[in-house]
Amino acid sequence: MITIKEGVFHLSAGNYSYAFYEKDGRLVHSYFGNKLDISEERLATSLLALGRHDNIGRDWALSEYAQFGRGDFRIASVEITGNAFASTEFVLCGYEILKNKPSTDLPQLRNGGETLKLTLRDKISRLQLNLFYTPYEEGLVRSARLVNNSGEDVNVCKFMSTCIDFPQGKYNTLNLNGRWGAECTPCIDKVTSGIRQFSSCRGVSSHQHNPFIAVTSSDTSEDNGEVVAMNLIFSGNFVAEYESDEKTQLRVNIGEKLMHGGIVLKDGDVLNSPETAIVYSNHGLGEMSRLFHKLYRKNLINPKFANVPRPVVVNSWESFYFDFNEGKLLDFIDGAKGLGVDTIVLDDGWFGKRDDDTGSLGDWFIDTNKLPNGLQPVIDRCRKNGFKFGIWFEPEAVNPDSRLYRNHPDWALHVKDVEGVTMRNQYMLDFSNPDVVDYIFDSMKLILDKYDISYVKWDSNRPLSDISDASKLFGYVRGVYRLYERLLERYPDLFIEGCSSGGGRFDAGILYYSPMIWTSDDTDAYERCRIQYGTSMCYPLETLSNHVSACPNHQTGRFTPLHTRGAVASMGSLGYELNVGLLSDDDKKQIAHQVENYRRDQHLIMNGDLYRLVSPFEDNAFCQMVVSQDKSKAYLVFLRALNTPNLPIPRVRLKGLDDKALYRIIERNTVVSGAELMNIGLNMQLKCEDFSAEILHIERCDG
Ligand code: DGJ
Repeated sequence: MITIKEGVFHLSAGNYSYAFYEKDGRLVHSYFGNKLDISEERLATSLLALGRHDNIGRDWALSEYAQFGRGDFRIASVEITGNAFASTEFVLCGYEILKNKPSTDLPQLRNGGETLKLTLRDKISRLQLNLFYTPYEEGLVRSARLVNNSGEDVNVCKFMSTCIDFPQGKYNTLNLNGRWGAECTPCIDKVTSGIRQFSSCRGVSSHQHNPFIAVTSSDTSEDNGEVVAMNLIFSGNFVAEYESDEKTQLRVNIGEKLMHGGIVLKDGDVLNSPETAIVYSNHGLGEMSRLFHKLYRKNLINPKFANVPRPVVVNSWESFYFDFNEGKLLDFIDGAKGLGVDTIVLDDGWFGKRDDDTGSLGDWFIDTNKLPNGLQPVIDRCRKNGFKFGIWFEPEAVNPDSRLYRNHPDWALHVKDVEGVTMRNQYMLDFSNPDVVDYIFDSMKLILDKYDISYVKWDSNRPLSDISDASKLFGYVRGVYRLYERLLERYPDLFIEGCSSGGGRFDAGILYYSPMIWTSDDTDAYERCRIQYGTSMCYPLETLSNHVSACPNHQTGRFTPLHTRGAVASMGSLGYELNVGLLSDDDKKQIAHQVENYRRDQHLIMNGDLYRLVSPFEDNAFCQMVVSQDKSKAYLVFLRALNTPNLPIPRVRLKGLDDKALYRIIERNTVVSGAELMNIGLNMQLKCEDFSAEILHIERCDG
C-alpha cells in the first residue's frame, strides 16, 4: 500500500513500513522497520515531529537519495559532471502512483503492482531523476532513472539504484564474499567509522563479492534481531558501499558500478538503474532468507519454470573433461539407465577442435574428430533411454586459436595496438557490439535448430579485461541479457542453467533468465555445505545446481560417503557429475534410491521454508531443514564433518513446525510432537566415520 499525507510517503506491505517525507523539495528518509499500524495522520505527525528540518539535504541529515557538492559530504548516490559543474541538487517536483511497475531493458521483478514514481529536477544540470518504489508482500523494490533533457551531454560518474540512510546506532553488515571454489561465504563485520565498499569491476558479479549487503543490528542472529537486506538484480559490475559518519549514522548505497569516470548520457537519453530487492526482517537472517526466497519464487524466476521440478541431470564434465568420443558418450548414456535421472548434459569439448582449453571457443560447430556422426547418435541414444539432452556453450568467449578470432580479431575486447590479456587461454567477446551478439545467437541457433536440445549450460570462465572505454563494460552485460532474451524468445521452453566458472555470476540478474545456476566448481560434499549455506542467504534452494561427484573429489582429494554427497546435493537441485558408465551395482542402487527420494521431496524443497539449524562456519557440522508452507512435511539433512572418539551425540532443535501437531519421523518410525521436536530436539544417528550424514523425513500424522 502506498499513501501520501502531509508530505509523508508511506509504503507498507507484509511485515514492513517504509517512510520518508518531503520538505522544501528535499527528501528525508525517516523509517524502515516493523509495519506501523497507525493512521496516516498519526504517522505524519510523529515523523515530522521527530525529524530535524534545519539541515535537510546537507551534512548529517538522513537522505532518501544522497547527492554531492551541496553540503552533504558523505558518499553520494548520484554524481554528474558537465560543462562547469560537478554538484547536483535534485528537488522533488512531482509524484504519481502508477498502477503497475514500469519495465526496463534490464532483468527485474515481475508482477509489480502499485508503484510510487517520484520526479525530481536537478537545479544545476537540469536533469530529471525518477525514483521508483514498488511494495511487494515480502519486500520493497527500488530503482532510479535519469532523463537527460537538459540540452547538453553530461557525464554520469555514479548512479546508484538505492540509497538507505540509517539513524545513529550500532550496526553490523553481512556480505557474501568468496573466491573460486568457495563462493558466498557469509561475512559479518562490525560497522566502524568510515567508508567501506564491496564491489566487482570484473564485468561479472563475481566469485569475490555477491551484489548483496545486509545491515543488521549488532545482536542479530539466525532467528533474532533486525535486518535490512539489499540484493541488486544485476550481473555486471556493481558496488555495495557504506559510510558510517561521526554521529554513527549509516548510509548504504547499492547499484551498478560505472567505471573509468562514468558514461556519457547524451541529451535526450535515459539511463535506468538495475532494481534492488530489499527485505526487512525482525526475526534474524533466517527470516530474511525466507523472504528473499518467496519474493524470487513468485516474482523473479521465469514463471514457465518457477514451479516445475528442475531437471535431474548427469553432466559429463568431471567424467571426461575434454577426453570423449561417440563411443564413450554412448556408454555414459547407457550407464545412466535405471538411475531415474532425466537429462544428459554434454559439457565443454564437443565443438571446433577442442581437446583442451587452448582453442576453439567461438567455433560453435561440431568437432567431427570426436563426433564423426554429429550429435544425432548421442541424442538418439538419450531418447532411446528416455533422457532429454543438454549441451554446454560459453557464448561470450573466444580463443585466439579459433576460426572466429582469425576472422574477427576486432570482436574480442581489446585496446588498440596492445596484445590482449588471456585467462584460461581466452579472450572475451565485445558483447556491447550488437553484431557480435547477433553472430553468437546465429551460431547457437544452427545447433539448437538442428538438434532436439532442451537444456543449455551457459558458462563464462573469465572476467573482462582490455576495456577500451567505459561504455564497453556498460554495454557488455546488456549484450548478455540481449542474448538471453533472444534465445528465450526463440526457444521459450529451453532450460538454461547459468554458470560462470562455478558461482562467478550467481545473482538475481541471471536468475531472471536461468531458473538454476551452477553453485560452485567445488563439488566436495563438505565444502558444498558451506557454499550452499552461504548462497541460501539470498537465493532459493532450487536455484542452486548441486552435483554428486566422484571420490576422491577432484577439487579437494577428499573421500566422503556417497550417501553424504547425495544428502548435501539434495538441499537444492540435485544432479550428478561422475562417470555413470563405471558405477558399481551398489552405487547404482544407492543413486537410484537418492533420485527416487529426491523426486518425492522436490516439491517441498522448491516451495518450502528454509531453516538453517547448524552453521558449518561455526560448528563441525551442517544442518538445514525445509518445512512445507502448511507445516505438514519437513525434510532435514545433518552432516558431521570430522569424527573424534567420545564426541557428544549431536542434538538439534527443529524449527518451523506446528508445536501442537504430531509428526512421524519416517526413518525412525516414531511419533513426536512439534513442541518436542522444537524444544527438546532430536539426537542425530551417525555412523562412526568422517562426513557421516543423516537424512530425515518428517510428516504430520494427527489427521
Ligand atoms: C567451468 C564450469 O564451472 C564447469 O562446470 C565446466 O563447465 C567447465 N567450465 C568447462 O570448461
